[in-house]
Amino acid sequence: MTDAAIAAAVEAVRAADVVTVLTGAGMSAESGVPTFRDVATGVWAKYDPMTVATPEAWEADPALVWAWYQRRRALVQAVQPNAGHHALARWASRADVGVVTQNVDDLHERAGSSDVIHLHGSLFACRCDMCERPHSVAVIDPDGDRLTPPECECGGQVRPGVVWFGEELPHNAFAEATARATGCDVFVLVGTSGVVYPAAGLAHTARDAGATVIEINPQETELSEVCDITIRSTAATALPAIAGTASG
Ligand code: APR
Repeated sequence: MTDAAIAAAVEAVRAADVVTVLTGAGMSAESGVPTFRDVATGVWAKYDPMTVATPEAWEADPALVWAWYQRRRALVQAVQPNAGHHALARWASRADVGVVTQNVDDLHERAGSSDVIHLHGSLFACRCDMCERPHSVAVIDPDGDRLTPPECECGGQVRPGVVWFGEELPHNAFAEATARATGCDVFVLVGTSGVVYPAAGLAHTARDAGATVIEINPQETELSEVCDITIRSTAATALPAIAGTASG
């Protein structure tokens, strides 16, 4: 089954001029970054997102939220891109392959991908919660549950540069991602449960615009039914198999 799906995917990408890849937390799972919704190991199985990933949580307890994101930064900094990230970067260096990610880690860039569209922001691009000035922040793995966030010159607090629940996506990033979804011949979904919108809607956008939609995910997802080809395998296994043989 998987072999036949990979063969179909290889054929589709060989015939494609433009490929867009939308990645989610499963892309980084084999690097050691836990996903959000996997039942036993997902981040949201251990933490209530409403207490760490909303503007209200930040307002209520910024030190709790800051410590949580510092722990996530430290975790990401300690791991490496996996074979899937590397395969995508090599593929994009020789063909028109654009990466759109929901991930706030920097593993695509560390594998060599450039111009990655980050729909949900970045762990490493912090900004003031009042004047929005960007701040670079030293990564500290905190001992306790709370860590006071740095202060901005304007008196505001430095917040994580990620998109929290209830916040809008960076406008340019979503517009560019929509253009990539509309303008591609093949749209590949990797490691996303497809439950968070508007990112998940890009698969529908691509499909409606005539792209062949491929899913790489060991589990069935909310988006499986809009996919033409479903590969029930992992990012680090399936992406090298497809990208390694694709001319673009
Ligand atoms: N390879 C490919 N897919 C995998 C792998 C793997 N090695 N391991 C797990 N997966 C799949 C899971 O089966 C699941 O469908 O990755 C998916 C991860 O889903 P989520 O945890 O929901 O992550 P994601 O889709 O990226 O979440 C979207 O939700 O909480 C927010 O802002 C956060 O960007 C995130 C958004």
